[in-house]
Amino acid sequence: MCQGKQHEFLQALPKCEHHMHLEGSLSPELLFTLARRNNIDLPSSDPAFQSPSSLLARYRQFTSLDDFLHYYFIGMSVLMSAADFESLTYDYFRIAHSDGVLHAEVFFDPQVHMHRGVPYAAVVEGITRGRERAMADFGISSEIIVCVLRHLPVEDGHAMYTEHAVPDLEVGRVKGLGLSSTELGNLGTKYTSIYSDAENRGFNLTAHAGEEGGVEYMASALYDLHVTRVDHGIKLGHSPELMREFVDRNILVTLCPMSNVELKCVTKIADLPLRLYLDQGVKFSINSDDPAYFGGYILENYCQVQDAFSLTNQEWGVICGNAIEGSWCTEERKSHLRERLASVLQMFEQR
Ligand code: ADE
Ligand code: ZN
Repeated sequence: MCQGKQHEFLQALPKCEHHMHLEGSLSPELLFTLARRNNIDLPSSDPAFQSPSSLLARYRQFTSLDDFLHYYFIGMSVLMSAADFESLTYDYFRIAHSDGVLHAEVFFDPQVHMHRGVPYAAVVEGITRGRERAMADFGISSEIIVCVLRHLPVEDGHAMYTEHAVPDLEVGRVKGLGLSSTELGNLGTKYTSIYSDAENRGFNLTAHAGEEGGVEYMASALYDLHVTRVDHGIKLGHSPELMREFVDRNILVTLCPMSNVELKCVTKIADLPLRLYLDQGVKFSINSDDPAYFGGYILENYCQVQDAFSLTNQEWGVICGNAIEGSWCTEERKSHLRERLASVLQMFEQR
């Protein structure tokens, strides 16, 4: 919770979340419950897996992206059935709703589930049911983005994309293609065959880039993969030319402030280039990434940004407005979100 009197305003802002991995919303409590229910052995040699609280304590000591990914992939191994994915998804939307999220575009990682014997169709069916219930109960609109995983062979990602993702992307059950997991050593150039096919088919494209990797990973996402969105993307300060390209091409950067601190990409939130991006006109949204692992959902990220940068209400209006415009939802939904933003800004202007 932020220190300032802005908290009520930050809570009220109509938020769009663009960077949240559903598997990253698996709390240690649910992880242990599902492990018991599904007879999944957690690694007994690692003392972190003694209890939910010891696991949570270990989460506060991540040293790098790969250190986190080790726990993230063990964690998701407890998700076995469509019902498990449905509960996970619905629980995320319940919390997102209480944080003021009106629209969310969330990632999922089918390759690792398929390797464990969980069919792609069960994953998407469970997630879809969770989304539909969240829409009915909370009025949250949502989309899902399928991720190709960088730590696995490209051929594995290609097969998942071709056999499973393409049919779902064609009918809109999945809204976009993403690229995640270990960044260093895996430049965009490795994935051009997948991304050029997706571009030809007219799919929405995003990729994690410029998280642990340098600005060259962001350039590769733009020039080799032709994305319209970049996830994390905190390195534009190292290249004024690329920053101008991001502005000119209207590329949305999905920032995840607490994640970047927890994974030691920056020492503190104040070190992130938010002020630079606002001043230069780089469009960005603020997101939670893996909220169960990084200590907070989207509102906590908004609060910590406010504590670090003391933004004005007008600047928050720009951030939330850019998040609406950069969303992959219908024009009708955008116009509703714009109206909600205008009314919140007006309400808090009068105070
Ligand atoms: N998968 C889940 N969280 C991630 C992150 N922060 N970076 C890359 N891949 C991820
Ligand atoms: Zn991410």
